[in-house]
Amino acid sequence: MGITPEGVLRKQGAEMDHTGTLSNAYLLMEDDRIADFGPMNEMPEADAYIDAEGGLLMPSFCDSHTHIVYAGTRDGEFLDKIRGLSYEEIAARGGGILNSSDLLHSTSEEDLYQQSIERVWEMIRKGTGAIEIKSGYGLNPADELKMLRVIRRIKNECPALIRATFLGAHAVGRQYTQEEYVDTICREMIPAVSEQQLADFIDVFCDTGFFTVEETDCILRVGAEYGLRPKIHANELGVSGGVQVGVKHQALSVDHLEQTTDAEIEALRGSCTMPTMLPGSSFFLGLPYGRAKAFIEAGLGIALASDYNPGSSPSGDMRFVMAMGCIRMRLTPVQALNACTLNAAYAMGVSEQVGSITRGKRANLIITHPMHSLTIIPYHYNSPFIRHHILAGNLIG
Ligand code: NIG
Ligand code: FE
Repeated sequence: MGITPEGVLRKQGAEMDHTGTLSNAYLLMEDDRIADFGPMNEMPEADAYIDAEGGLLMPSFCDSHTHIVYAGTRDGEFLDKIRGLSYEEIAARGGGILNSSDLLHSTSEEDLYQQSIERVWEMIRKGTGAIEIKSGYGLNPADELKMLRVIRRIKNECPALIRATFLGAHAVGRQYTQEEYVDTICREMIPAVSEQQLADFIDVFCDTGFFTVEETDCILRVGAEYGLRPKIHANELGVSGGVQVGVKHQALSVDHLEQTTDAEIEALRGSCTMPTMLPGSSFFLGLPYGRAKAFIEAGLGIALASDYNPGSSPSGDMRFVMAMGCIRMRLTPVQALNACTLNAAYAMGVSEQVGSITRGKRANLIITHPMHSLTIIPYHYNSPFIRHHILAGNLIG
């Protein structure tokens, strides 16, 4: 499953209904790459074999939106949520993102790395092979750079493909006014991040109670001067205008989209921006799910990602994300697979390297337990399904 011709970097509209499939087939890896594949009767000689024994072979998941570098947990707020407080109410009381920021400040860089790499390995064991990781719990220059250094270390030391995003504009740091903070991001943080080459992308939480469209516009303009392409948080808590300002700045993706109208669909049509939906935060916060079907019917592609973070989605399980795509957003299993692999790879700028079974791409592959159909993966949504996970040609133990 997941065979895609070379050069296809994303799927949109009706293209999402298809995935290249071969039954009774072989796949040949050379070093870290997919060298070839074809029908079993044409299998070439090889040094070693893994027999799939009736399992499916599919590309590893790509998770294009996470906040997995964080310190501690926010289980106290989880209890507040159970008692009836909303995400915004918790944030307005000084909890939420600021709570994680205080914890991160008092955690050493080494400890932060150890806590975060454990989450990375949990995700890898659950079938994820490419991960975008955001900063955004530092909220001052020193702590944002500390987070980004931890992401760089993860990138150098784990077998998954990692991309880093600077999300200084996640919330206003405690020691600043809103205006002072936006100014600090533009004048101090972006230049430092760029000079130290710590980020591939820039993000802003453009939403009710966080950053306005005007502030987002300003931050993205400065980001562009430093070569940072946007991937932004938009339309989670309100119809914020985030989608439109993202498209204006040629964002690689606009993410969340729990609150959209047809105007957002119109804005995205014909753009290079991948709408990305995060069913894990809809599930955990009790928000509406993104209108994935309407987007696809309008000819757009969509990606799905976990949003793994301590406040709104404390899970990086992409198989559960895929299942929620089917169960709650009514995607077909093939649409959900495309959303969690090729389109998610596009949304983090790596679809030339991963996200499908394509000759020359990195061999990031899952061999499942024996199953007769892809549908079994979201259907038995909580049963173990991975028999082997291979990253860059190596079996993960
Ligand atoms: O994507 N919405 C903004 N940021 C994160 C939540 C971060 C947090 O609560 O720690 C999200 O849901
Ligand atoms: Fe997020």
